[in-house]
Amino acid sequence: MKKHDTVRDIEDANNRRQFLKLAGYGTLGLITGGFGPLLKPLAAGQNPETGFTPDLDLFLTARPGEVAIFPGDPTRVWQYHARVLKGDKNRVVELPGSYLGPIINVRRGEKIRIRYDNAIPEKSIVHWHGLHVPAIMDGHPRYVVPQGQSYLYEFEVNNRAGTYWYHPHPHGRTGPQVYRGMAGLFLVSDDEEQAAGLPAGEYEVPLVIQDRSFGRDNQLVYLSGNRMERMTGFIGDWIMVNGMPDFTLPVSTCAYRLRLLNGSNSRIYKLAWKDGRPLTIIGTDGGLLERPVQRQYLFLSPGERVEVWADFSDRPVGFETSLVSLSFDAGSMGGGRMGRGMMMGGGMMGGGRNQNQRLPNGAGFSIFKIKIAKQVHKNQTLPEKLSEIGPAQPDRAVNLSHPREFYLTMRHMQWSINGRVFQMEAVADDEIVQLGTKEIWEFSNTGGGMMRMMDMPHPIHLHGKQFRVLERSGVRHTGYVDEGWKDTVLLMPGERIRILVDFADFPGMFLYHCHNLEHEDMGMMRNYFVKGPQSNQLNSSA
Ligand code: C2O
Ligand code: CU
Ligand code: CU
Repeated sequence: MKKHDTVRDIEDANNRRQFLKLAGYGTLGLITGGFGPLLKPLAAGQNPETGFTPDLDLFLTARPGEVAIFPGDPTRVWQYHARVLKGDKNRVVELPGSYLGPIINVRRGEKIRIRYDNAIPEKSIVHWHGLHVPAIMDGHPRYVVPQGQSYLYEFEVNNRAGTYWYHPHPHGRTGPQVYRGMAGLFLVSDDEEQAAGLPAGEYEVPLVIQDRSFGRDNQLVYLSGNRMERMTGFIGDWIMVNGMPDFTLPVSTCAYRLRLLNGSNSRIYKLAWKDGRPLTIIGTDGGLLERPVQRQYLFLSPGERVEVWADFSDRPVGFETSLVSLSFDAGSMGGGRMGRGMMMGGGMMGGGRNQNQRLPNGAGFSIFKIKIAKQVHKNQTLPEKLSEIGPAQPDRAVNLSHPREFYLTMRHMQWSINGRVFQMEAVADDEIVQLGTKEIWEFSNTGGGMMRMMDMPHPIHLHGKQFRVLERSGVRHTGYVDEGWKDTVLLMPGERIRILVDFADFPGMFLYHCHNLEHEDMGMMRNYFVKGPQSNQLNSSA
C-alpha cells in the first residue's frame, strides 16, 4: 500500500484548524469533538461565533428505544429523533411506529442548523447523503463524537429538489448503526419541482426499503462476525418498508409519486410491478429527471433513490398489486444461492449462520402490496417535462483523454479500491483533485480475479457531489437509470462506468466508497481531497 501524502494531510489539517478558528467552531470545542454542554445554551437565531442565522434550527438526537414490530416483545433499536427549535414545526415528520428517523423537509436555499446529540453507547456522526455541503458539515468519520456529546451542523441547502437521506458514518460501525435503525429521509423541494405539479400530500409517498433478521425474541440479528458473511454483506430475511414488515399501501384510483430509497446494508432490489407494467421513473438520487423514462425493471442498490409515477386510475377498488424484486444473478459472492452453495459445498465456510437462507440476495419476492381502497376522480397527467438538466458535456473535463481510474478488487480477503483500504486521514496522490475543475472518474468492477469466484456487485458513492453518468460498459444487465443526477451508482461484476464530477466548490476531504455497508466498514472506502489555493479554501468553505 502506498504511503499517504503527509504534506497534503498537514495542509488539510491546517486549513481545517484555520477555518474552524475563523468560523468560531474552535472556541466551541468542535476540534476535540467535545462541546456537548455548550450546544444547548446556543439560542435559536444567530450564532454569535459563526454569524450563521438559520431558517430552520433543530435538535437531532440518536438514542436507544423500543418499537413494536411484531406481536410480543418490542424490538430494541437505536433511533433518530428530531425537534424543531426555530422554524416550521411541520418540517419534521415522524413515522409512527417506525424505527426510522423522522423525515426532514427543507427548501433549497434555506439555512439549516442541526444540533446533533449522540446518546447511543458508541461513537457516531451524521452524514447527509447526497447533500452538497462543506467538508466539515459532511459527517466524515474523523468528526465522530462519543456518547453524551454533540456536533453542530450549519449549512445552506443548495441541492436540487430531491430525495436525500441521513445516516451515521463512524468508521467500521456504519453497518451496525444503520441496521439498528439509524437512518431517515431528507427531502428537498424547490420552485422548479413545485412547478412540475406532481402528486403531493397523501399522494406523495416515501418508501424506505430495508431488510432485517429477527431472533425468536423479536430482537434484531446482525452478522455473526464471520469473515465470509462480512465479505458478502448483511442479507436479512424480512423485507421492511418504512420500518414495517408485510407492508401494504392503501391507495386511491389516481396518480402517486413514490419516493423509494434502498436503505438496506447490502441487498440490491430489482424493482418491477407484479403485473408486468413498466415502471415510470421521474427522478433519481439528485432529483427529477428531465423527462420521465420507462423501464421494465430497475436495479436499486444500497444508497440509491428513485422516484416513480404510479397511476392507479384505471384500477377497480379492491384490486391488489405489488412492487416486487425480480430474481437476478448477484454474482458468486453476492449473497445469492449460488455463492452459498458453492461455499458450503467447497467447505470454505464452516459454522456460519445461514442468515440469508430464506431470501438470498437476488431472490424474487414481493416488497410491498398495494391495495386500491378508494375511488376518486382526479385527472392528473404525467408531465412531459419535469426539470431542466441539459447534456453532461464531458469535454469540459480536464482529464477527458485520461480519466482517473478506480479498480474495485479484492486483496487478501479484503475489498479494496485501487488496492487500498480506508485510512482516516490518508489521501494518495491520485486522490487529489483541483478545486474549480471538472473530472471524469472511471470505476471498474473487475471482481476478485480468478474464476469469477469472488464476483460481487458494488454500489459506488461519492460524498459531497451529484454527478452525471457518461457511459457504462461491460454491461450484462439492463435496468439502470443513469439519466439525471446521481450520487450512487451500481456496478455489477465486470462493469465499468464513467462519471463526470464537478469540483467547483468546497475544498477539503471527502469520502468515496462502496455503499454495501459491510464493505464500507471493512475499508472499501477512501478519501479524496479537493485542493484549492489556500486563500480560496477558506472563502469557499465559509
Ligand atoms: Cu450514504 Cu458515505 O454514505
Ligand atoms: Cu453520502
Ligand atoms: Cu462493495
